[in-house]
Amino acid sequence: MTRRIGILTGGGDCPGLNAVIRAVVRRADHFDISVFGFRNGWRGVLDASVERLDRRSVQGILNRGGTILGTSRTNPVGEPDGATRIAETLEIHELDGLVVVGGEGTLSASRVLSEEHGVPIIGVPKTIDNDLGGTDFTIGFSTAVDVASDAVDRLHSTAESHNRVMVLELMGRHVGWIATYAGLAGGADAILVPEQAFDIGKVCRHLKRRHGSGRSFSIVVVAEGAVPQEGTMDLPDYDTDEFGRPVLGGIANITGPEIERQTGFSTRVTVLGHVQRGGRPNATDRVLGSALGKAAVDHANSGNWGIMVGQDGASVKTSSLAEATRELKTVPKDLFETAKVFFG
Ligand code: F6P
Repeated sequence: MTRRIGILTGGGDCPGLNAVIRAVVRRADHFDISVFGFRNGWRGVLDASVERLDRRSVQGILNRGGTILGTSRTNPVGEPDGATRIAETLEIHELDGLVVVGGEGTLSASRVLSEEHGVPIIGVPKTIDNDLGGTDFTIGFSTAVDVASDAVDRLHSTAESHNRVMVLELMGRHVGWIATYAGLAGGADAILVPEQAFDIGKVCRHLKRRHGSGRSFSIVVVAEGAVPQEGTMDLPDYDTDEFGRPVLGGIANITGPEIERQTGFSTRVTVLGHVQRGGRPNATDRVLGSALGKAAVDHANSGNWGIMVGQDGASVKTSSLAEATRELKTVPKDLFETAKVFFG
């Protein structure tokens, strides 16, 4: 009997998801496994909204951004009878298990479904945030960094022309991976990350020193999840998403005016937002997506469920879903110290 597996992409989209879907279908074909794609993340599994994917369905998608399956932030374990409905969908469609391509929220839900409800799942880590354990890098991060560092470059030239301070807010949720990489790659003069609470007064003194020594412009990169030291600056009021996590965004709109107020330097704010998630995946994300998609099917073929595949240098490793989601992977202190060398 032909074996059958399902695949879904959940959470925020990112470049490289289609590379995973293509790799899963192509590798499954090799083992004579049929692949069924669920629409819009866990929503599609709950609603049994499924389509057969064959080699033709994944033709020409490798270089396309987004996900041909669609995605959503549906939290299956937050839905009434969510786990039961998922088990029913698997039974109705005679699926051996699911390849779940997701970030922290999607894979944390996968852990619960796998550990507490016995749903056979293999996770594939994707998120521009790069905040998952069990992998060196997550799919989508590298392309987001390319986009963000290009933005830093572009801000440099206009900042210099106008003698301004440019504050650039980047995504990344509660870790500063995108901010640190893009800031380092683009030569930012200050980078504010969630890993180190910042003192806006200190940042302003630093900018004044820099301008006092002959420079007439500065670039400040702020991660959306950056936190001011207690009592130094207010944060925006954040809503919460389906997983109960704050919907971040807007800290630069507070930081920028405060810098202008304290320094007297003309300051402008750019919130790069979802531009970081859109567009074509770069070569690194295409390769990583292909490698992890292929590895996921190899493990499904061996019946090795309840794991996440991840990058280990140029190889693929596996970890339990619990290991991958236990704690956020933060920016190592050493790397941030390297970025600091170039401040000012
Ligand atoms: O997790 C990826 C991410 O882009 C975060 O960096 C950001 O905080 C969030 O998703 C934005 O989510 P949404 O697309 O729901 O606005």
